Amino acid sequence: MKTALKSHNCGEITAKNIGEEVTLSGWVACVRDLGGIIFIELRDRTGFFQLVADPQVNPEIHEVFSKLKTESVINIKGKVTKRPEETYNEKLPTGEVETYPTFAQILSEAKTLPFVLDDENVSEDVRLKYRYLDLRRENMLHNLTLRHKIVTAVRNYLNGEDFLEVETPILIKTTPEGARDYLVPSRVQEGKFYALPQSPQIFKQLLMVGGFERYYQIAKCFRDEDLRADRQPEFTQIDMEMSFVDQDNVIEVTEGVVQAAFKEAGIEVKPPFKRITWQEAMDKYGSDKPDTRFGLELFDIGDIILESNFDIVKNTLLNGGIVRGIKIEGGAKYSRKDIDDITKLAVSYGAKALANIIYQEDGTAKSPVLKFVTEEQAKAIQDRAGAKAGDIIFFVADKPKLVYDVMGRLRLYFGKKLNLINESDNALLWVVDFPMFEWSDEENRFMAMHHPFTSPNLEDLDKLDSGDLGNVKSIAYDIVYNGTELGGGSVRIHSPEVQKKIFKALGLTEEEATEKFGFMVNALQYGTPPHAGLAIGLDRLVALLCRTESIRDVIAFPKNSGAKCLMSDAPGEASLQQMRELHLKSTVKPQK
Ligand code: AMO
Ligand code: AMP
Repeated sequence: MKTALKSHNCGEITAKNIGEEVTLSGWVACVRDLGGIIFIELRDRTGFFQLVADPQVNPEIHEVFSKLKTESVINIKGKVTKRPEETYNEKLPTGEVETYPTFAQILSEAKTLPFVLDDENVSEDVRLKYRYLDLRRENMLHNLTLRHKIVTAVRNYLNGEDFLEVETPILIKTTPEGARDYLVPSRVQEGKFYALPQSPQIFKQLLMVGGFERYYQIAKCFRDEDLRADRQPEFTQIDMEMSFVDQDNVIEVTEGVVQAAFKEAGIEVKPPFKRITWQEAMDKYGSDKPDTRFGLELFDIGDIILESNFDIVKNTLLNGGIVRGIKIEGGAKYSRKDIDDITKLAVSYGAKALANIIYQEDGTAKSPVLKFVTEEQAKAIQDRAGAKAGDIIFFVADKPKLVYDVMGRLRLYFGKKLNLINESDNALLWVVDFPMFEWSDEENRFMAMHHPFTSPNLEDLDKLDSGDLGNVKSIAYDIVYNGTELGGGSVRIHSPEVQKKIFKALGLTEEEATEKFGFMVNALQYGTPPHAGLAIGLDRLVALLCRTESIRDVIAFPKNSGAKCLMSDAPGEASLQQMRELHLKSTVKPQK
């Protein structure tokens, strides 16, 4: 970075530069006045370098330094000298050298900062309000540098696999990813709105119709959904689509992408990654994004309960419910209160009840449910759980979705509480064979589990016709890392007839389907290659590789949980003039 105001980078000056004249610029990270002699740590993107001003040697420089406030930007010239050995700073690469500047100027004076950069206790709100200052922290620089390296590695990898990077539009109609759209009112088309893309899904498929065969994009996506640590209203995907491929081909390319990305973080991962079916993931882990760094696999005791007199649970099972249990080794020692607390936790996850059986050290079982199950049945449950004397099992019976959710969360709770998770593990796996549809109690209809352009399993087409939607599988796959969904994709529908059937199954009338996605169905009629793809959440990938919980830590200017930019105060209000031009009326505030 040699420029008019910099001959060297602060962090790169070492003993080999002794005797050289250097011109440096940067921020004053720290000023120490030791009885007249002033030491300054000058910081730029590359690191720190020590400046010394001795009033006896150079009074003018000392004068400039004595007025300096930290975080001001200065420019100096001087000769690199060796530090006295007893003052070496082993922690810095530049720790053996320093300079007594012969010239110094303040380029920009800093006011007192609203917070101390390295203070761990500063609230995130304050950091986000002054994000440009927060970005000066080493941690932010590290995270965004790794992000850049990952994106570069991913681009290099995909370029090497004959992919073309193509940009797709931001002002579009609507995307079918299932979140709420961000809308942009049109000025020139009165009463009409653009949507911002929830993903480039439709356009990347149309690039396949257009003959591009292999596309990728580091794509901005926008979703108006409730935010969490791993969700932002605008985020970035590594988005890919390929023609003439099957699921295995997409999986193989994605594994290459993931391997290249992990390598940048110094982690070696070896494809092929393990694959499990969605059903197996739900049955064993109660989750479609299982954390497989630890065991605690769930088990099914439905058949045993059905033989018993446990009528409430039996009725649940006979009415489409399921029952799953979890075994906690050594849990027989839990107190009454411990068990109550765990039960409350399960209830807070949505369970109506959590049953337990303690297998006591003396070989007998103890449980409130023993009045409904025989000794043999309790023993059969023990065998199914693989429980020894001294263990406890918990189980829940209810509708499948609820049981999976509660037991999956309980499993994660115990995994953390019992320290079963080895943080340095890298558990990458594929979840495949997702159901095509998912029943929504809220909307009282089936919804696409992935999105409506996902191909159903071709053997299940007759179930589509007969309305047995709950049993239609799709050719969709997710990649999961340590219990987080990194990415997902599918083989797409390339037949207009099948596409129409799916829209119908989703409850869209022909008019609605044509209105929303007609151009897409039309396109399928002009020679469409079989195609498939996938998108990885870049922010999530980088956050996980930076070992941070929140994707805000790997986004330069993120929004807070209220989808607000605390720095710029976006979203802001529109003026009446703008509202008029956009043909909008506010129902919130009286118009001025
Ligand atoms: P999907 O909706 O599964 O698939 O998204 C792919 C990946 O994007 C990430 N992601 C998010 N990251 C941050 N904030 C969000 N709000 C957010 N939402 C999603 C996740 C997720 O795995 N078009 C399809 C892909 C395809 O079929 O090719 C799609 O967008 O890591
Ligand atoms: P009681 O209420 O004492 O008759 O016993 C009912 C027992 O069955 C309690 O231990 C409950 O925890 C258990 N139980 C009831 N409903 C369920 C359910 N849906 N899943 C698991 N256990 C249940």
